[in-house]
Amino acid sequence: MRRLTLPAMLLPALGNVGIAYIAPLIVAKLVGRIADDDGIGLRATLPYVLAFTVVLLLAEALWRIGLHCLNRLDALGIEHLYVIGLDELFAKDASFFHDNFAGSLTKRVLSFASRFEEFVDTLTFNIMGSLIPLLFGSVVLWRYEPLLVVGLLTMITVTALCVAPLIRRRQALVDQREAAIARVSGHVADSLMNMDTVRAFAAEESEAAEHRSRVAASRRLTLLSWDYGNLRIDTLVAPLSVATNALGLLLAVTLSRGGHGVEAVVVAFTYYTNATRIMFEFNQIYRRLESSMTEAAQFTELLHSPPTVLDPASPDPLPTRAASLRFERITFAHGPGAPLFEDLDLAVPGGAKIGLVGRSGGGKTTLTRLLLRMTDLDAGRILIGGQDISRLRQADLRGLIAYVPQDPAMFHRTLRDNIAFARPDATDAEIRRAAEAAHVTEFADALPEGFETMVGERGIKLSGGQRQRVALARAILRDAPILLLDEATSALDSESELLVQEALWRLMEERTALVVAHRLSTVAGMDRLVVLDRGRIVEQGTHEELLASEGAYAKLWRHQSGGFLTDSPTDDGALDDGAARADVN
Ligand SMILES: Nc1ncnc2c1ncn2[C@@H]1O[C@H](COP(=O)(O)OP(=O)(O)OP(=O)(O)O)[C@@H](O)[C@H]1O
Ligand SMILES: [Mg+2]
Repeated sequence: MRRLTLPAMLLPALGNVGIAYIAPLIVAKLVGRIADDDGIGLRATLPYVLAFTVVLLLAEALWRIGLHCLNRLDALGIEHLYVIGLDELFAKDASFFHDNFAGSLTKRVLSFASRFEEFVDTLTFNIMGSLIPLLFGSVVLWRYEPLLVVGLLTMITVTALCVAPLIRRRQALVDQREAAIARVSGHVADSLMNMDTVRAFAAEESEAAEHRSRVAASRRLTLLSWDYGNLRIDTLVAPLSVATNALGLLLAVTLSRGGHGVEAVVVAFTYYTNATRIMFEFNQIYRRLESSMTEAAQFTELLHSPPTVLDPASPDPLPTRAASLRFERITFAHGPGAPLFEDLDLAVPGGAKIGLVGRSGGGKTTLTRLLLRMTDLDAGRILIGGQDISRLRQADLRGLIAYVPQDPAMFHRTLRDNIAFARPDATDAEIRRAAEAAHVTEFADALPEGFETMVGERGIKLSGGQRQRVALARAILRDAPILLLDEATSALDSESELLVQEALWRLMEERTALVVAHRLSTVAGMDRLVVLDRGRIVEQGTHEELLASEGAYAKLWRHQSGGFLTDSPTDDGALDDGAARADVN
């Protein structure tokens, strides 16, 4: 890429020198000859015409070669930025993605890259393409009369100084305009992503009205910034440019009297005309650079906050299999304000199956995400197999855990790819086995394209229960020593849950499992149940112990079993349907 930069930047500028300054110089010389000697024949003019043609052809060739290099520079630069843009985003914490819309991130990361083209083009065509010819023109003019150069450069400088404050004022207008455009795109993305909700609440009209008002606001601000460019800035530049041209003509005519002849008049006139064009470009150059810089800044701003969840410089090796878990006096707050967990202790022996229950918002999901180190603790430690998870490489840590999130999202890929995501090197047979265990095959085989069916954006073409089964298949395929299930079977009907649960119990053998469930029957058969309420562990024990102690768990259980205490859980951990009817919330 570096090899391309110099020719890409210089050649078009040199082409401009040929077209706008050397070719007119030849014409001026010819005109000078004609004026001196009015009998000049065709033969004598021929070398001028030839030189004129060669210069123009050469200039065109320089342009073509320059553009060839520039195209490659642009394309490679864009590719490079696309790649590092996403790399940077992948390095971000989970919390970053909670605070930033996926839609606006997508726009930012893509326009960050594509604005590179605008930036380089402006640099090449407008800046280098104007300055180098201006330099050349100044040298030539100097040889006729230094005063011509002084006049031209003074006028250009004066114009630049006059326009600069106006351009800066326009910057504020452009910022407002960009913010308004961002509000439009943010709303469009939000509406489209929630289309079903919009439909269900018959909110199309109100959403469209909101869109119209945002678009109108953006139109007002856009016009304001454009008008400022056209009416304020260019109305100042125009007379200055005319004055410069007139000055050039005046100087040239004076010179011709002093003995420089017609040649100087023609050169001065054309050079002034060409050079004053740059005056109108100040605004445009500024606008282009500014808009590409604004876009780039919007993206790099995001990168400023460095990720907080980092791999240690010298990570510890992995703990042994069937690891024990230990939350040791952990304190954690989601943001400023009172912490959700304060000095929380929880120990899970290796191979134990723990059910995590409790009211909504109690912190169950947060606890699972802390174990995955999606976010770091404020105080305390989490140990796996006796090793502090912050001392492990994040990839190693997460490799120990098969996780089914509360709201399993799908990729817009095939069913097969969605399952294989857990282990890309899995064979078809392994994927099939996992899919069978999670009862995915039951519905997958009925789909027109089976496992090759695309599941739609975020898995929209699957039912909630089907999505959960795919997520479970993923966890089964992952084959990790720790199983972390957050409401993994909540969307299944009792009958499918019973079937899936069998598979899960098999999977949990010889593994440590932390299972979050609202439907208590799901976890009633676990080795130990932990009741979490507002970030505190309020009770622990087996199902029977907790029922006997008549505490929070017993109350929840009675709610769910319709006010009757039913039988204790059956061997495989699931209760009969009567006990598993309703969720707590
Ligand atoms: N990303 C976040 N930023 C700020 N607060 C959060 C975030 N995620 C969760 N919370 C807050 O933390 C608390 C615990 O949430 P959490 O999701 O852990 O509860 P939960 O026990 O899993 O609830 P549920 O049973 O409804 O899934 C809630 O009060 C919630 O509002
Ligand atoms: Mg939760």
